[in-house]
Amino acid sequence: MAIIIDGKEVAANLRENLAIRVAEMNKSGVIPGLAVVLIGDDPASRSYVSAKEKSCHDLGMYSRDIRLPEDTSESSLLKLIDELNQDREIDGILVQLPLPNHINEQKIIVAIDPSKDVDGFHPMSVGKMILEQDTFLPCTPHGILKLLEYSHISPKGKNVVIVGRSNIVGKPLSNLLFQKQAWGNATVTICHTATQNLKEETLRADILIAAAGRPEMITGDMIKPEAVVIDVGVNRVEDSSKKRGYRLVGDVAFNEACEKASYITPVPGGVGPMTITMLLFNTVKSAEARLS
Ligand code: GUN
Repeated sequence: MAIIIDGKEVAANLRENLAIRVAEMNKSGVIPGLAVVLIGDDPASRSYVSAKEKSCHDLGMYSRDIRLPEDTSESSLLKLIDELNQDREIDGILVQLPLPNHINEQKIIVAIDPSKDVDGFHPMSVGKMILEQDTFLPCTPHGILKLLEYSHISPKGKNVVIVGRSNIVGKPLSNLLFQKQAWGNATVTICHTATQNLKEETLRADILIAAAGRPEMITGDMIKPEAVVIDVGVNRVEDSSKKRGYRLVGDVAFNEACEKASYITPVPGGVGPMTITMLLFNTVKSAEARLS
């Protein structure tokens, strides 16, 4: 039976350290501030955004919640970002993705001042990350590196297989994992929808990372015995036995995977709490940079 990697525990540990840094800044009258912009009312996005706000307040940080209607124009969103770029109360700007189709996502991301890009999505941040320069690392990949570190799982020399090539997870995480850094030195394979024989690839993984956004697509027979399994998926599947009408499942068939893996992250309570924690981490880092 696999050991469960408890993301809530790791997150709580990191947040304790962040709380100390925030309290230190508060003494000098600085309150790290995060602006979260949510366009439209996608229920999953709404619940992430609420969780982000609560976590900010718990740590003694300032959070500004900006919710705009689905039909918000690209130009008015650009104007808002410009205002937030200038705003001295704001250290980090997060525009919740995905955006409605009539808004060009890349145009919005490049409008964010790189010094406030706590998502790490700006091309400047991505470029610096690839060059292994100091920057804001994207939150989910960074959180996964922290989960591995906390669990004393070193990627060095391991075969890591990532299923999913998104800008938010697969692409940046693959890069971080082969960097010549303590968190890297792995041999990395990325699989995607055009991969010919997915199972053949995943069976070679010492560390398997599922980030495709497809409910329970990684079944037990796709996992090498004693592999470490990291499940990034958060999928809502209908479940009439639940009061809210759905349950959350990952990209991994959890029960089957537990029989094969040495370590596994659950959904919820695995990667999710880490993403928010690394967002807070980046916001505190930004505020500290403003102070120094
Ligand atoms: N949508 C899903 N994950 C994320 C994230 O980490 N940041 C933003 N801005 N949008 C997301």
